[in-house]
Amino acid sequence: MSELNKIALQILSKGMGILAADESNATMTKRLESVNVHSNETNRLKFREALFSSISMKECIGGVILYDETIKQKTSSGKTIPELIKLNGSLIGIKVDTGAKVLAGSKEEKITEGLDGLRERLKEYYNLGARFTKWRGVYCISDKYPSKLSISANAHALARYAALVQDAGMVPIIEPEVLMDGDHSAEVCLNKTSEVIKRCYEELELNKVNLKGTLLKPNMILPGTKSKKKISSEEVAELTLECLKNSVPSEVPGIAFLSGGQSELEATANLNQINIKNKTNFIMTYSYGRALQQSALKFWSKDIKNIIGTQEVFDHRAKMCTLAAQGKWSTNLENPE
Ligand code: 13P
Repeated sequence: MSELNKIALQILSKGMGILAADESNATMTKRLESVNVHSNETNRLKFREALFSSISMKECIGGVILYDETIKQKTSSGKTIPELIKLNGSLIGIKVDTGAKVLAGSKEEKITEGLDGLRERLKEYYNLGARFTKWRGVYCISDKYPSKLSISANAHALARYAALVQDAGMVPIIEPEVLMDGDHSAEVCLNKTSEVIKRCYEELELNKVNLKGTLLKPNMILPGTKSKKKISSEEVAELTLECLKNSVPSEVPGIAFLSGGQSELEATANLNQINIKNKTNFIMTYSYGRALQQSALKFWSKDIKNIIGTQEVFDHRAKMCTLAAQGKWSTNLENPE
């Protein structure tokens, strides 16, 4: 087994998942302001330190994705954030793209940037303890989108990124996110997401990326947020599995979904059904940002000194997600008396 394959499996084994705590400062500011907390370096650190010191880091979270600011921060006890995460048994990941910018040539769409200087930044992150990385390509759905240009340009960037990351001794997470915005049906989401993912693997192959040392972070197959037709978790699971079975090469060891704006309960219920119905060899788990942190953030914002209480809320969510990653979750576990 190659070293990269070992890292990929270590992150996702036994129902473990990923905590995506890599919000850029701009995104984290939005999240904090939504609960009336001032966004500054100290507050961003305080909330994240609470999560990274929680019990579920050992029991549920196989890897944490960090943002550039966080990987260089020190905790209140003087340890660095990577030291704290390692101590709690989890692997360190880092977001290495520099964000989605307007795509020249199709100005309503986005292209993710960050390839310039990436080789040097990867060396620095490796030395800070990172063993896996993330790059997010983003696509929107409408009659004409995602365009061929956005599908091809983002796949190219994702593959160039992945090849550089493996050269630097780390596991690249390939994240092509097809957004939920719009009134499209789940079938349209299935077709467009399949096209996007297939194109990514064509480019990854061209760039000689070792797929056994990668992870995929896709969206689930859902109707658009403005669609009138809602579907059940069972249907979400069937469509999502159909998409992945037909577009992901079998060498890929694991798939860790993003939550993409689903509520915590939706993201948990859907992942649970995916695992109940999963007949593929892929590990199917979570790499959630909002669906792991939302309740904890709300709780923390009411009293930012209540670290234990915040950790209890986070631990519950992480435990529910880890059960869902094994198909063992049910609604009645959410509110035990
Ligand atoms: P969400 O789960 O909130 O979609 O975040 C996951 C992520 O890492 C987006 O890039």
